[in-house]
Amino acid sequence: MIRGGTPLQGRLAASGSKNAALPIMAATLLAEGACELQGVPVLRDVTTMTTLLASLGASVSQQEPAGTLHIDSGSVQRFRAPYDLVKTMRASILVLGPLLARFGRAEVSFPGGCAIGSRPVDLHIQALEAMGARISVESGYIIAEAPEGLRGADFSFDTVTVGGTENAIMAAVLARGESVLRNVAREPEIGDLVCFLRRMGADIKGDGTDTLVVQGVSALHGASHRVMPDRIEVGTYLVAAAATRGHITIDGVNPDLLGIVLDKLQQTGADLSCESHSIALDMKGRRPMAVDIETQPFPGFPTDMQAQFTALNAIADGRSRVTETIFENRLMQAHEMRRMGADIEITADTARIVGRETLQGAPVMASDLRASASLVIAGLVADGETRVDRIYHIDRGYEDIEGNLQCLGADIRRIST
Ligand code: EPZ
Repeated sequence: MIRGGTPLQGRLAASGSKNAALPIMAATLLAEGACELQGVPVLRDVTTMTTLLASLGASVSQQEPAGTLHIDSGSVQRFRAPYDLVKTMRASILVLGPLLARFGRAEVSFPGGCAIGSRPVDLHIQALEAMGARISVESGYIIAEAPEGLRGADFSFDTVTVGGTENAIMAAVLARGESVLRNVAREPEIGDLVCFLRRMGADIKGDGTDTLVVQGVSALHGASHRVMPDRIEVGTYLVAAAATRGHITIDGVNPDLLGIVLDKLQQTGADLSCESHSIALDMKGRRPMAVDIETQPFPGFPTDMQAQFTALNAIADGRSRVTETIFENRLMQAHEMRRMGADIEITADTARIVGRETLQGAPVMASDLRASASLVIAGLVADGETRVDRIYHIDRGYEDIEGNLQCLGADIRRIST
C-alpha cells in the first residue's frame, strides 16, 4: 500500500545484479570443484535457481556475510530441470548449456511464454545444435544430448538474445576446438559471466563486442566471484526519485553501467553527479520533463527500464512516445496507469503519453517484474492511496523494495505477500 506525494530523499546501496547472478549460478555447473559467489541478491529468482541446482544434485549453501553462496556441482547426477520450477522462472533455461557441456545431457522443461511475450528459445537450441548437440522436444521438455561432447562452431544469432548468448558461451567453453559466436548480446551482465568463466579457466575473447571467440578447454575449476551491481535496480530508484522530485544518492554502482539511462534522466531535468562508485540525482523540487524512449539491445536503452520511464512520463511536463522494440507485449503497465488517470494511448509497440500534473491513487495489479516497479513509482507520485496487487512479481527482482523506499522517506507498507 502506498500513499503518494513524498519526494524521495536519502542514500541507498545497490544490490547485486539478478541478471548477472542467475547465469553465473548456472555456470557453476561447469566447474569440477566448489565456487563461492559474493554479493548475490536476496530474491525469489535466486532462491528458485538455488532450488533448481540442488534438485540436480549440486550442494548449495548460504554463507556469511549475507549474499554469499557456496556451490559445488561435483555431486550433480541428475540433468532434468522440472516443469514446476521452470514455470516459475524462465531463466531456468540457463542450465541447458552448462549441463550439456559438462555432462553431455540435459532435459529442461520448455519455458512457456510470460506476460511480456512468447519468449521463444529457438536461438538457444540452434546455437547448441551448431555445436553438435542432438535436441528434440518431448512432452514439453527440451531433450539435449551430446554423448561425444560438443565441438566448437561458427554461429551467428539471427536476433540479439541475452539468454541465448549466455547458453552458447557456457556450452562453448567446454566444446572441442574454437567457437566464433556472432551478433551476440553485449549487456554488462554477460561481461560479468565471462569474467567468472575466465576465473574458472575459460578462454574467451571479444566480450563487449558483437563477436566472441571461445577456445574450448577440457575442464574448468571452481572460482570465487563478486556479482556486479544491479543497474536496473539502481535505474529504478533513480527514476522514482526523479518522478517524486526528490534527491537521492546510490552507492556501490559504476555510473558507466547506466549510460543512456543517465542521459535520459538528465533530459528530464535531473541534476546528476557521478563518482566512480556512486550516482546522486537531485531534481531540486522540479517537475520532470517528458522524454522519448525507444528500447534497444545494449548499449541502447534497456527494455528493463522502459516501464519505469512510462510512469515518469505519465506525470512529466510535456508529451512523449515510448516504443518497445524488444518484447511484443511489454506496455501493459500503461493500462493500469490509465486507471490512475494517466493520459496514455497505445498503438502497436508505442505508447503516446501526455504528462499530467499528478495521478489519482487506485488499486492496480502487477503483471511482470518491471511493470510492477512502474506501478510502485506511479503510486509514489499519485494523490491518495495506491494498492499494488501481485507484488510477488516485484520480489523476483527487487530486494526489500518497501524497506529501501521507506528509508528514502516513502509512505509504503506491505499488507500481504
Ligand atoms: C534477458 O531475458 C533478461 N532476463 C530480461 O530481464 C531482459 O528483459 C532481456 O534479457 C532483454 O534485455 C535475464 O537476464 C534473466 P532475450 P532473455 O533472449 O534472455 C527474442 C527482467 O526484467 N528471442 O534477450 O529471455 C525474444 O523473444 C527480465 O529482469 C528469440 O526470438 O531475453 C525477445 O524478443 C525480463 N529467440 C528478444 O529475443 C530466442 O531463442 C530478446 O530476448 C531467444 C530470444
